[in-house]
Amino acid sequence: MPVISFANAKGGAGKTTAALILSTELAHQGYRVVIIDADPQRWISQWAELSGPQPNIEVISEVSVGSLQGHIREGRRSSDYVIIDLAGARDALVTMAIGLSDHVMIPVQGCAMDAKGAAQILDLIEQMRIAGNLVIPHSVVLTRVVSMVTTRALLAIKGLLMARGVNVITTPIVERSAFRDIFETGGTLYSMDPQRVSNLDKARDNSRFFAEEIMRILPVKVVRSASSKFMRLITAA
Ligand SMILES: Nc1ncnc2c1ncn2[C@@H]1O[C@H](COP(=O)(O)OP(=O)(O)OP(=O)(O)O)[C@@H](O)[C@H]1O
Ligand SMILES: [Mg+2]
Repeated sequence: MPVISFANAKGGAGKTTAALILSTELAHQGYRVVIIDADPQRWISQWAELSGPQPNIEVISEVSVGSLQGHIREGRRSSDYVIIDLAGARDALVTMAIGLSDHVMIPVQGCAMDAKGAAQILDLIEQMRIAGNLVIPHSVVLTRVVSMVTTRALLAIKGLLMARGVNVITTPIVERSAFRDIFETGGTLYSMDPQRVSNLDKARDNSRFFAEEIMRILPVKVVRSASSKFMRLITAA
């Protein structure tokens, strides 16, 4: 079952938010999701403690280089999607998670274009290809896009990245208070009160379109590709 990690070497790019929105949307649609919380800030683990048991969601905390592979193997067995939230770093755990993923999502803030952190992850993926002949599919996800940003400006950013051979997810994640509030209220966008959260309907639409696009790229039954090769490479080293 697909393993999707969220990586950007720079902090605050929107990894944790995108990972939780995707996970809760998939769970809402009936898919079983295991979230591996490898972000030292533990936002998703705290969200899970606050939320109590959530249907279709299991959160794994306290992840290390030694335990990651086992968590992924177990997650693949017990769930439809494994989502990994990573630190804003480029360390051994991030490298290992990327090597074991079917797809790496690289959130980039639509307005700020925090290109350095994203470029470091793209470099890492490129190094794995050159050194290990390991092809890891990846995409940039535009996040925190404000409604002021025109479709034309977004298309320009997408065009720029795609000209460099980087795939860009068509649905950007918009700046919405619901995507912040979910960490404070717990639960999902579907358990939030529309009277209290502004534009909750738009946040739900955004979440649904985003997840639907990811599901088209990574349907539940994915053919295993790079990650077993990655494990062979590092165990041989
Ligand atoms: N789409 C969004 N709408 C509103 N706020 C957002 C959105 N995405 C992220 N944020 C806010 O931006 C901040 C950073 O987001 P987040 O924690 O998801 O980034 P991160 O890449 O996981 O950071 P770190 O590298 O520190 O783990 C948080 O305060 C979060 O609430
Ligand atoms: Mg984070």
